[in-house]
Amino acid sequence: TKGDPEIGAGIAARVCVACHAEDGTSPMPNTPRLASQHATYLVKQMKDYRAGRRTSEVMGNYIGGLSEEEIPHVAAYYAAQEAIPGVVTDPSVLKLGRRVYVDGNPGSGIPACSGCHGDEGEGTRRFPRLAGQDVGYTLEQMRLYAAGERTNDRGLMQTVADRMSEAETLAVAQYIASL
Ligand code: HEM
Ligand code: HEM
Repeated sequence: TKGDPEIGAGIAARVCVACHAEDGTSPMPNTPRLASQHATYLVKQMKDYRAGRRTSEVMGNYIGGLSEEEIPHVAAYYAAQEAIPGVVTDPSVLKLGRRVYVDGNPGSGIPACSGCHGDEGEGTRRFPRLAGQDVGYTLEQMRLYAAGERTNDRGLMQTVADRMSEAETLAVAQYIASL
C-alpha cells in the first residue's frame, strides 16, 4: 500500500513526535533520525517491532498503538522529510571512519559499508540510509548487532559488527554522522 504523508502526519502527532520530532530529527539521545529514511525500510522496522522480530523497550511501548494500516502512512510522512546534516562530536576519527566505511577491513573480513549503504550513506529500498544518523544510535545498533540482540536482518549485520574493533566502530559512527 502506498502511504499518504498527510495522513501520516496526523498519526505521528499522537505520540511519535515526542521523540522523533515533527521534522524527523529525533533530538532525544540514542534515538534514530527518521527524516529522509526509505519508506520501505521504515515499514519493515515497524512491522518487525510489532511482530517482536526487533525488540526495544522504548519502541515496544508505542508500536502497539499503531495499527497495521497506519504504518505505511507514518513511513511516508518521515520518508518525505528533508534530511538534516548530522552532528559529529569527534572529528579526529573521521579519517579512520572513512576508511572503514569505504574499504572495510580486508584483514579482519569487514566488508565496505558503502557496498550496501551507498557511497554517500544514502541507502536503497533494502538497505537503510545511514547519512547524518545520530552517533549514539548508530553505536547502540552496532552493539546490539554484535551481541546478537538485533537479528531482524537475519544476522547479516552481526557478521559485520562482530568483526569490528571498538576504535573502528566509534570512528565509522562519526563518519556516518558526517555524511
Ligand atoms: C526506533 C518509529 C515513537 C524512541 C524507531 C524506528 C522507527 C520508529 C521506524 C526504527 C528506525 C531505524 O531503524 O532507523 C516510531 C513511530 C512512533 C515512535 C512511528 C510512534 C508510534 C517513539 C517514541 C519514542 C521513540 C514515543 C521515545 C519515547 C525510539 C528509540 C528507537 C526508535 C529509542 C531505537 C530503538 C532500538 O534500539 O531499536 N522508531 N517511533 N519512538 N524509536 Fe521510535
Ligand atoms: C543496517 C551500519 C555494512 C546491510 C545497518 C544499521 C547500521 C549499519 C547502523 C542500522 C540502521 C538503522 O537502524 O537505522 C553498517 C556499517 C557497515 C555496514 C557501519 C560497515 C562496517 C553493511 C553491508 C551490508 C549491510 C556490507 C550488506 C551486505 C544492512 C542491512 C541492514 C543494515 C540489510 C538492516 C536492514 C533491516 O533491518 O531490514 N547497518 N552497515 N550493511 N545493514 Fe549495514
